[in-house]
Amino acid sequence: MFTSGHHLLPLNPTRRSLAYWTMFTALSAVFSLLGVFLIQHLLKLRRIARNLGNLSGPRFLFNPSSAPGQLTMRVLPPIPYVNSGGSWMLAQKYQDFAIAGQDAALLITDFPQPKCTLFLADPAAIKEVTTYRARFPKPVELYAALSVFGRNIVASEGEEWKRYRKVAAPAFSERNNKLVWDETVLIMKDLFDNVWGNKSEVVVDHGVDITLPIALFVIGVAGFGRRVTWTSDLVPPPGHQMALKDALHILSNNVLMKIILPNWAWGLTKHTREVQLAFIEFKQYMIELVDARRNAKEKEERYDLFSGLVDAARDEQGDGAAISDEELLGNVFIFLLAGHETAAHTLCFTFALLALHPDEQERLYQQIKSVTSSLDRAPGYEDMGRFTYSLAVFYETLRMFPPAPSIPKEVAEDTTLTVTNADGGKTTFPVPSGTEINLHVPGLHYNPRYWKDPHAFKPERFLGDWPKDAFIPFSLGARACLGRRFFETEGIAVMTMLVSNYKIEIKEEPEFAGETFEQRFARITAFDQGLTTIAGLALSLDFVWIRDSTTDLHLHLHCFRPQRLKALNALQQSSRVVRPGIRAVSVQGLKRAPPNRRLQRDPMPDNFAAFRSLTVMN
Ligand code: HEM
Repeated sequence: MFTSGHHLLPLNPTRRSLAYWTMFTALSAVFSLLGVFLIQHLLKLRRIARNLGNLSGPRFLFNPSSAPGQLTMRVLPPIPYVNSGGSWMLAQKYQDFAIAGQDAALLITDFPQPKCTLFLADPAAIKEVTTYRARFPKPVELYAALSVFGRNIVASEGEEWKRYRKVAAPAFSERNNKLVWDETVLIMKDLFDNVWGNKSEVVVDHGVDITLPIALFVIGVAGFGRRVTWTSDLVPPPGHQMALKDALHILSNNVLMKIILPNWAWGLTKHTREVQLAFIEFKQYMIELVDARRNAKEKEERYDLFSGLVDAARDEQGDGAAISDEELLGNVFIFLLAGHETAAHTLCFTFALLALHPDEQERLYQQIKSVTSSLDRAPGYEDMGRFTYSLAVFYETLRMFPPAPSIPKEVAEDTTLTVTNADGGKTTFPVPSGTEINLHVPGLHYNPRYWKDPHAFKPERFLGDWPKDAFIPFSLGARACLGRRFFETEGIAVMTMLVSNYKIEIKEEPEFAGETFEQRFARITAFDQGLTTIAGLALSLDFVWIRDSTTDLHLHLHCFRPQRLKALNALQQSSRVVRPGIRAVSVQGLKRAPPNRRLQRDPMPDNFAAFRSLTVMN
């Protein structure tokens, strides 16, 4: 082996002990340094915790709101004391507070620096934090990813935020809500007529396959006057390489990459190149939207959100409301993002919960039916307040699966907070300036002091008197969601049309035949955390056309020409169906033509297709 004839001599004892000694000294130095670092680290953590009243709570190595924490929570599974996992707050619900014995807990983390974050699940303390904005501002540095296209209303504070809010708030008007309703109805009709067509049963592999497009189409048209439909925009328009809906979808799933990835890394993989293209394309679409609106020959009276923003950007007279072009893009992006993901996943969880609870679905169906059958026209925005059970179903879904599980705030001056503890007493503790606070939305929404049987899906809890301050999916106070009514309008319109026409079921799959309700619930409502809470991947739904409910899906045609009435009656008698499961059931003659001499349609907007068929035939 040693061909050179050299022998491998053992080190002589003096040289060996010298080598050991050097190694020992080096290791001791390293361990001593580590020890000193660890002691300092622990002392710092202890000091911070003591300054916060020594509250107890969960402990992880990485802080979930830091960049390393964001990365580890995405690539590693949840590991106790190390990595929280992306959706740990929704997974834990009230548990950390139950262990802490009070409605406040400290999240203790080591990296990137020793830190204690105060978590709150107490309605009174949360109200105080959301009411006093100057004392508890928003930590805008945590929202950096949302400013990729420009400064905006969500990622700002102080005077800057006030300016954006002043510009944006008027756009969320009653006229805009009405537009949301009308456009949602058209989008659902388009789905039923042109995508689902005559199918009596439609299986979707994942609920979001329909809820993401619905939410995008609604915000596209009611937000930006840009009508995208199920069958349009399948190919990119001239001058583009990507359709708007694809660009937005890719973007909302990968917005964090924009701040994490250095410029040189964008070309590395197919995926990063696609994301980069989505950013470029999306910006181009937004610029085109702005240009088209600005250069329009005639200024139309429009009620979409965008009009308000564009007008404000144009208003450079200096009343303090004007925003720059970059700010305009930043806000356009944030509206699209805020109005898209949250709504889509909430709708998806709602479908899942209704499919899991057929009794609740039936109750919802009956309530919708009782409202629609009392009208002699299609339900409109003005009827929205009557769909009380639909709203209760959404609220219960938002209680159980809040899209924004954590709402961060910071403390601008030393203060104290008071929370309720396990025996019903109160604990007051100091909260020093600089502390990060997190409103723990699932903790509050599953707090058994305010919600009886919190793990059960019970929409009726929102019908009577319910604890308003213990429900914060849209946050509270001055920084609460501007789009709440927008979403509620969209959601109720979708729900009214879908549930009155289709029964939502879980797709039966042989491999899950023997599962218990709890297992099925966990599988179907699996969640993950992106920018918002997202519905898991296992949600296959079955939309079954309600075939046997001809009296429910009635078609009132107010007919003013006798010959038409005759033809319609003949049709009613015949076995011809205009769509599977729906027949012309109620044909009514009017003595006089309605004032505008237009045929009036039935209360179920869905019957539009049937109505069209009938008029063609007559
Ligand atoms: C299920 C639906 C929705 C939920 C649960 C939701 C939730 C929230 C939450 C929790 C906040 C506060 C965020 C924070 O403090 O960081 C917020 C803010 C906001 N949301 Fe929503 N949102 C929804 C739908 C929408 C829609 C449809 C739009 C617009 C079309 C919208 C626009 C906004 C805006 C502009 C803000 C910033 C308000 C401000 O800071 O002044 N949201 N939303």
